[in-house]
Amino acid sequence: MKNLLVTGGAGFIGSNFIHYMQKQNADIRIVNLDALTYAGSLENLKDLPRPEQHLFVHGSITDRALLDQLFSEHKIDTVVNFAAESHVDRSILNPGVFVDTNVIVPVEGARFHHVSTDEVFGTLTREDPPFEEETPYAPRSPYAAAKASSDHFVRAYQTTFGLPISISNCSNNYGPRQFPEKLIPLMILNALNGKPLPVYGDGMQIRDWLYVDDHCEAILRILQDGREGETYCVGGDNQPPNIEIVKTICDILDELQPDSAFAPHSQLITYVADRPGHDRRYDINIAKIERELGWKPSHDLRQGLVDTVRWYLSNPAWVEAITKQSDYDNWLKKNYSDRKA
Ligand code: NAD
Ligand code: TYD
Repeated sequence: MKNLLVTGGAGFIGSNFIHYMQKQNADIRIVNLDALTYAGSLENLKDLPRPEQHLFVHGSITDRALLDQLFSEHKIDTVVNFAAESHVDRSILNPGVFVDTNVIVPVEGARFHHVSTDEVFGTLTREDPPFEEETPYAPRSPYAAAKASSDHFVRAYQTTFGLPISISNCSNNYGPRQFPEKLIPLMILNALNGKPLPVYGDGMQIRDWLYVDDHCEAILRILQDGREGETYCVGGDNQPPNIEIVKTICDILDELQPDSAFAPHSQLITYVADRPGHDRRYDINIAKIERELGWKPSHDLRQGLVDTVRWYLSNPAWVEAITKQSDYDNWLKKNYSDRKA
């Protein structure tokens, strides 16, 4: 792996992955192709450890001519595909763009690693066993359906054309540089500003939470030692209900900002109308990646949340730039103003 093409590398996980890779491997050259949608920003790439080894290209993964040009100009040997529309709520309000971006076919001519989600497997009851690599697909949101479709295309290219691919299906990530439409950064920023903390439904939905650097490490292990054609499930082995995550963020803010006018921050918690088709529970079995590649998550959830809250407190300029450039207030209005308590 010498010349790596990262798609969607200006977004949350993609930018953390580029930071992570530059710390791990000083020699690798990274071309970063990103369409700079509302979720992508050059702010996420400002403080790279080796900027001279990173080339940003503004463009879409759907532009085949551009991809061909990048492949031949930069002798790309490995692709990691993060590019996607990634937010379930947006896929409910505007599903079409998810079909256009997320239903991709892999690029030929290099090892192609496709970053996918556990949401392709659908939802679990309290009694169901966790998702694993063999779990049948049963996506329920337009986001999950479009991601499932791309997973199928990637596998079809392997069986039909012999493309060297791999796929990871990962659970919910959190950490620095996550766009504040997702649960954790949204709650941090709303709490800091004394705004309501909108908990959907009864707040007892369950996600499996993984610190983003652990995900980056899992992808690197798969690129290095993963078997071609294989799928790996990746997760954090942490499954608190949403309300517990929100309360923990409130506790952390009470500790870090005891003089805040909004403390105790839990007074801001507001139950609002549930997300349509809301998946109740995710849980993921990581036995395969642990057994074959020796990977398991190393971040503790509480500590990861403390680090994440501290990061948002220490980066107000990032928050300002990201929210300004993305028409953020309009998104908040669209998603939350008509939600009944
Ligand atoms: P994100 O929304 O923060 O970033 C997505 C990036 O893709 C943005 O920079 C955006 O500009 C870019 N992009 C969108 N359409 C593009 C296109 N057509 N061409 C090129 N770039 C384009 O998303 P994220 O949270 O960083 O997620 C990255 C990937 O990981 C996605 O594929 C997502 O499905 C997957 N994933 C995310 C999570 C999670 O918890 N966030 C969990 C599992 C898997
Ligand atoms: P989210 O971060 O959007 O990720 P995903 O839907 O991909 O799991 O949401 C995580 C959980 O938090 C999910 O169960 C929905 C819930 N949620 C809220 O209760 N309130 C909110 O304002 C948001 C954004 C999410």
